[in-house]
Amino acid sequence: MQTTQVQAYRAGLLHFHADPAFTPDAHHWHEDGLLVVADGKVLAAGDYAALHPTLPPGTQVHDYRGKVITPGFIDTHVHYPQTDMIASPAPGLLPWLNTYTFPTERQFEDPAHAAATAEFFLDELLRVGTTTAMVYCTVHPQSVDAFFEASEKRNLRMVAGKVLMDRHCPTFLQDCAETGGRESEDLIKRWQNRGRAQYAITPRFAPTSTEAQLGVAGELARAYPDTYIQTHVSENEDEVKWVRELFPQARSYLDVYDSYGMLRPRAMYGHCIWLDEGDRRRMAETQAAAAVCPTSNLFLGSGLFDFERADQAGMLLSLATDVGAGTSFSMLQTMNEAYKVARLKGSYLPALRMFYLATLGAARSMQLEGTIGSFAAGAEADFVVLDPKATPLLARRTGHTESLEELLFALALLGDDRTVAATYSAGREVHRRA
Ligand code: GUN
Ligand code: ZN
Repeated sequence: MQTTQVQAYRAGLLHFHADPAFTPDAHHWHEDGLLVVADGKVLAAGDYAALHPTLPPGTQVHDYRGKVITPGFIDTHVHYPQTDMIASPAPGLLPWLNTYTFPTERQFEDPAHAAATAEFFLDELLRVGTTTAMVYCTVHPQSVDAFFEASEKRNLRMVAGKVLMDRHCPTFLQDCAETGGRESEDLIKRWQNRGRAQYAITPRFAPTSTEAQLGVAGELARAYPDTYIQTHVSENEDEVKWVRELFPQARSYLDVYDSYGMLRPRAMYGHCIWLDEGDRRRMAETQAAAAVCPTSNLFLGSGLFDFERADQAGMLLSLATDVGAGTSFSMLQTMNEAYKVARLKGSYLPALRMFYLATLGAARSMQLEGTIGSFAAGAEADFVVLDPKATPLLARRTGHTESLEELLFALALLGDDRTVAATYSAGREVHRRA
């Protein structure tokens, strides 16, 4: 039998077993901690003093003292084809889609362009410490193959899907209910659970799908219950008004998706800003999850997510960048903006909660607790090494923090790609900051 190669990492260790908003002591913090990894999985996480004597003789201990190791960040809503159009100005969502998004996505008809962009995108995710993402491709099936081929080479746990869009978009980006459904099913058969890949049925949003296409998406979601669903809902007031005109029979925007059977576990709804109480209740009872995208929502002027009401309803919550409308790939920068959004809504997001949302909270939203998002024994060893002294300003601020909360808050508010000293996926180093 092949001997197992054990690797150990010494640093401050942070991870969660519960949601700190609802459970006291929801986190594990080992100031002098040790993360023990073998065969790409977590063997143990705890105090260095307790675990070091249990290591097999000769185990390599990577010395990251002074740094903080957390589970790899999870970005639950991002568009890889929009990488090249990040920071493109427009007065709101609908003009932004027409001016920049659709022409940019057209280029993914070319598999070579898709492959090159997927490589850059994944490098960028790893540079900011994101090890799992829920990714929109374009309407072209080849954009999905290019993405999964690039992520398979790196052995990353990634969720992605082909955009379904059969109306209210340029003809060069339109599929139809029948071909879009068939192409999605082919991609499910090719990629679902191949290595660490998982497929997401991806109707772009209700306005760009006919009732026939939403019907096909709902049928696929029933036929393949272990796949994901991802789409946008209640992002922008003009969009909500448009949906009301297009679907006059629906009780709400979310209800359009509900009526096609698309509220279920593993369904990820981007934005969720203009929901009402009935919508929030439906999301909680169906275990559909919200991907909260603060940098995007502030950039496009879409609105402010209501964390307090979402928590009162018991919704599954996660944080997401929504690049290209999002203005950063960094989940630390995303926390920074989420914190300010919460303040503007009169509520408060402690740093511990934000780190939970970017790790275990996202894993729970994706029904992947035990697989990613924590250092529970047996979880996949996706983790990130954060450097509290990455910049002169961070070093100055973290030089006198008096609690874990203060340290994490400084990392969240001041951190970005420079804060990520290294990123590991399935126990393998996939990024190291120069
Ligand atoms: N709604 C429909 N498509 C999109 C998109 O690509 N980005 C954002 N932010 N919202 C959308
Ligand atoms: Zn989006």
